[in-house]
Amino acid sequence: MGNSWRIKSLDSILRTAEKKSLHRTLGAFQLTLLGIGAVIGTGIFVLTAEAAQKAGPGLMLSLILAGTVCGLAALCYSELASMVPVAGSAYTYTYAVMGEVLAWMVGWALVLEYALGASAVCVGWANHVVPLINAMHIGSYHLHIPDILSNADGLRAKFAMATGTPATPELMRAAQIGGYINLPAVFIGIIVTLLLIKGTTESATVNAMLVLVKLAALGVFIILTVPLIQSSNFTPFMPNGIGDPVTGQGVIGAAASIFFAYVGFDAVSTAAEETVNPQRNVPIGLIASLLICTLIYMLVAAGAIGTIGGQPVMSSTGQFIPPGSAEMAGRCALITAAHQPKPLVCSDEALVYVLQSIHWPIVGRWVGLAAVIALPSVILMMIYGQTRVAFVMARDGLLPSALAKVHPKFRTPHVVTAITGVFVCVTASVLTVGFLADLSNAGTLFAFAMVAIAVPVLRRRAPDIKRSFKTPLIWLVAPLAVLGCAVLLYGLNADAKWVLVIWGAIGLVIYFAYSRRRSYVGRGLEEAPAD
Ligand code: ALA
Repeated sequence: MGNSWRIKSLDSILRTAEKKSLHRTLGAFQLTLLGIGAVIGTGIFVLTAEAAQKAGPGLMLSLILAGTVCGLAALCYSELASMVPVAGSAYTYTYAVMGEVLAWMVGWALVLEYALGASAVCVGWANHVVPLINAMHIGSYHLHIPDILSNADGLRAKFAMATGTPATPELMRAAQIGGYINLPAVFIGIIVTLLLIKGTTESATVNAMLVLVKLAALGVFIILTVPLIQSSNFTPFMPNGIGDPVTGQGVIGAAASIFFAYVGFDAVSTAAEETVNPQRNVPIGLIASLLICTLIYMLVAAGAIGTIGGQPVMSSTGQFIPPGSAEMAGRCALITAAHQPKPLVCSDEALVYVLQSIHWPIVGRWVGLAAVIALPSVILMMIYGQTRVAFVMARDGLLPSALAKVHPKFRTPHVVTAITGVFVCVTASVLTVGFLADLSNAGTLFAFAMVAIAVPVLRRRAPDIKRSFKTPLIWLVAPLAVLGCAVLLYGLNADAKWVLVIWGAIGLVIYFAYSRRRSYVGRGLEEAPAD
């Protein structure tokens, strides 16, 4: 193989794996809980509205499609994770199987997944905390966070018009009333980053409690909404069709967005090493948590759409409006100004809004509070995942070794954590949750597709390596996973795909300008000398 396809030797990867041998304590039940805890978050609490704007009630099909792709990819991911159970394993195995350039691209894509995923959850958190604060009084003083500081719709609308987008009534309205920065999202980004620098990790007990909080919130939502479902709210079922690779509308586009609601399954895969009888329990944990989440999500979506309707809103000229766009914010403001009922697709906190609309406002606030309590742990896991990937890449010499510096007192990788935190806060301050989630999904889908290719190749090339978990029906599951990722990537809107391409191009420039020369494998070394 040519020099540009440098491959990291499997032996060196396995030596890294051997150093890490953990107690096997987890069973299928704990793994399922772990999976559910890692997965439920902004996706269902917020993106339900955005996905409904793309697909209407067809969102129900999008949930099944996204869940299936995630399940197929997760089964492949688990085999790799059972060999080296670390967050950077997608990157590490691409290195072994497909060489350094593609490995770099996977690591680079994982930055999108983790860092922008964390930003998306920061914005989702802000969507819930702002109304809670605005409803509070201290004595006779009414707390209020001004709109100008709690969203960036105005900034984005002005930017769009300044860069040549026609000044539609929607955009002008958004420019008039929209804000400039999402400060609450920045706030939670800073808090979580500081906690991580201080060395906070989540204990199993805290995780179990947060899972209960989330399940209780969604359970109450289902109990209150499902009995009120009216079948008429489901017609037309697919108002925006199957999919459109430019606008991102339709069932496939919504699946590509709501895929975010399933992200986090790596948590189950990476726990393979701590699992009793992983060959049996990992797939049970994965499939069970996936099925339970899909079922819960479908009931929640049915409850939301079936009670207050979930049809998309169109522009004044009858065009599709992308969810989360400044135009959408303006359209929603025009609807409210005309004293028409606010549609589901216009709400920033979908589930809370549905409960308020069906006359359970206090319960709605409790559900909002549940999101405020539980979402920071999702942010924590994502930023943590990002630092792990950057750590491994720095250890291979592809990123500056300064990134892997450990804080003398807290013993945490404070440099990379702080850089990630800044990136998360800056993106969360001006971008929308839906766009951030789409970008995060694009990175995840790319990485998952690479993993799904790597697993069968590695089976052929190194059949004898010990795998504590083997993907069942690999020759069927892996191609289907790749196909599923490709279909979802296709369903994303053109903007998200452009960002993926530009991000990839920047990555390649950095690789060829910096990383390639410094790579330890390229220099014939195994990895960075131990610190
Ligand atoms: N699945 C996680 C969420 O929806 C990332 O927040």
